[in-house]
Amino acid sequence: MQSKKSKNLKGEITIPGDKSISHRSVILASLALGQTVIKGLLKSDDVMKTIKVMRLFGAKINFKGNETCNIDGVGVGGILEPSQPLDFGNSGTSARLIMGVVATHPISAIFTGDESLSKRPMQRILEPLKLFGSDVSCREDNYLPVIIKGSKLPVPISYKLELPSAQVKSAILLAGLNTPGTTEVIDKFNTRDHTERLLEIFGCSVDIKETSQGKKILINGETDLISTKLEVPGDPSSAAYPVVASIICDNSSLVVKNVLINPTRDAIFNILKQMGAKISFLNKKSLCGEEVYDIKVETSKLVGIEISEEVAPILIDDYPILAVAASQAEGKTRMNGLSELRFKESNRLDGIIDLLSKCKVDFNLEGDDLIIFGQDSEKKGGSFIETNLDHRMAMSSLIMGLVCKNPIEIDNPEIINTSFPNFIEIMQKIGAKIGSSS
Ligand code: S3P
Repeated sequence: MQSKKSKNLKGEITIPGDKSISHRSVILASLALGQTVIKGLLKSDDVMKTIKVMRLFGAKINFKGNETCNIDGVGVGGILEPSQPLDFGNSGTSARLIMGVVATHPISAIFTGDESLSKRPMQRILEPLKLFGSDVSCREDNYLPVIIKGSKLPVPISYKLELPSAQVKSAILLAGLNTPGTTEVIDKFNTRDHTERLLEIFGCSVDIKETSQGKKILINGETDLISTKLEVPGDPSSAAYPVVASIICDNSSLVVKNVLINPTRDAIFNILKQMGAKISFLNKKSLCGEEVYDIKVETSKLVGIEISEEVAPILIDDYPILAVAASQAEGKTRMNGLSELRFKESNRLDGIIDLLSKCKVDFNLEGDDLIIFGQDSEKKGGSFIETNLDHRMAMSSLIMGLVCKNPIEIDNPEIINTSFPNFIEIMQKIGAKIGSSS
């Protein structure tokens, strides 16, 4: 698959459902009583892994047409022991959130994944889950395969996040669901809050207090979750690819419909605006307890800025595409505090550096801070990028090719199905020259 210099990107598109909300909707609906009806669920490889596993736990999950997914849950406390190891493929969110569910049910489960997921740290999740009373073991004290023997008599915990991870926070809250008493998590990083919002929608009251140590999130366990009706908004991290493409390609103007704009996810658009991008938010509505807008964007002249470490948790998935935008900005963009990028589907700091180097963009890495010296001009390109089983590196590399003199080719376009199955189709529809290499 390769991308070539493009201009005149135009149109009105709809982006698939948000990945984080899709995973959580499937998990909570599978734990609820009654039938939940979900519209606009993301049907990507990652979310299908969550669905497959929740089916092994006893949930009945059926698709009706292209749009609707019906889930009959088993009730909190009701999940069955799976008869086979659970394969999470590339999906860290599925594996880590479901570890939380298993930790406080009286069942055992084996967690496995692909080559990328098997290199990602799991101790960050297992450490708090052990405190609930579950037995855990893993390879080399940190990696899949993980075996969890859930606690028969879980005890509630109070846990202060040491890392900016919504997955850790969510695993603890999900473990708290089948635990008597009050489970609490203190999050000073302001990580994405979809678990808290969805728990409320499923009828579990979540108490949130601002404390001197950070946001304290409390839930009372052993409460029933009640089935509901949901509509999943478009994923802002997926929207960021056509949005950045339209900013950096000449003579472009695009509308992306129904994009989730949540204060723990929207930094990518705010930062692009600060860099000079012409972005506007139109037609506000509410879906899934979240604000949703149509985003209008057009070709813009960007300038480099400094992005502080505090923003990292709410920008975390969007640094690769932001780096592409920064490479096209005038002056230097400094991105501070990128350490967590090393633990994503690939080491994304290395991946970004590889992409920049191959496109002859100047940069400096100072510890965990990346400084990109942009140039508002054509890049050389003509590069082959190894994506290392990382969907976001694959999409970012293809967008970079749209502003290069020579094509950019990537090794494994199938990995894009992890989060954005119709990415190529949508990009072609708006006029981007992305297609198979011939
Ligand atoms: C996610 C949390 C983030 C993010 C990932 C999705 C989630 O991971 O990078 O793509 O849905 O909770 P961390 O919790 O590791 O920061």
